[in-house]
Amino acid sequence: MSLIGDLRVLYNMALRPVRGENHAERMNNFYSGQAADYDDFRRRLLQGRERLWQKMLADVPYQDTVWMDMGGGTGSNLHFFGPAIERLGKVYVVDLAGSLLEVADRRIHESGWKNIETAEADATKYVPKEGSVDAVTFSYSLTMIPDWFAAIDHAWNVLRPGGRIGVVDFYVSRKYPAAEHRKHSWAKRSFWPQWFAYDNVFPSPDHVPYLHRKFEPLFFEEHLTRIPWFPNPFFKMPYYIFIGRKQY
Ligand SMILES: C[S@@+](CC[C@H](N)C(=O)[O-])C[C@H]1O[C@@H](n2cnc3c(N)ncnc32)[C@H](O)[C@@H]1O
Repeated sequence: MSLIGDLRVLYNMALRPVRGENHAERMNNFYSGQAADYDDFRRRLLQGRERLWQKMLADVPYQDTVWMDMGGGTGSNLHFFGPAIERLGKVYVVDLAGSLLEVADRRIHESGWKNIETAEADATKYVPKEGSVDAVTFSYSLTMIPDWFAAIDHAWNVLRPGGRIGVVDFYVSRKYPAAEHRKHSWAKRSFWPQWFAYDNVFPSPDHVPYLHRKFEPLFFEEHLTRIPWFPNPFFKMPYYIFIGRKQY
């Protein structure tokens, strides 16, 4: 952990206004000042990513698999594939922020991976040349995609029947969630969406129900995590891990 790096990230997250005429410009503007420090800070902020990858890999027959990591940023998730990465057919790291994809391109080049490509593109629209894919992941990107329902619908369209979607992200519960899901306090449901909205992150009560409606749920976990530098360590942020199957 580097204090200077953290301060740079915190300045970008808490003080510097995000500028841009459209979503792509805003993403590029937000990340351009923190791309180099991104991985170190987000390792502590964005929990559950490695667990999602482990669960996905245990479930997806990854030999020759085509996998899209939507909003894949710096490509740090690629390390969670471990040695399996060599056996995957193709992995696409799709993101709107060119500054983060530059970090991903360096990582791919230095690791010598030949089957990984980055695409500067919108996760609600991007279709790889294979036409359909076996797996789609969103790690902490759905909350940053304004048309998140379009992103989920697009993932459904581009997945082959039987393909898997994996999502890990922040959320808050509905006031009256499904009986088998957790209910969060009024304070959590009110405070966290306001807090995160400053950075154009929108934790929603609707992602979890929509994912359960659209896909056959295979795995679902709900957790709480500390936010680095947040003054009250007991007031934690909810996040979930979901894996679903596109039904045949
Ligand atoms: C919090 S970051 C998460 C990055 C990465 N998945 C991770 O786990 O470190 C959210 C990412 O979503 C990307 N993003 C937001 N909206 C997008 C869109 N419509 N299409 C593609 N990427 C998008 C942002 O540029 C950013 O890289």
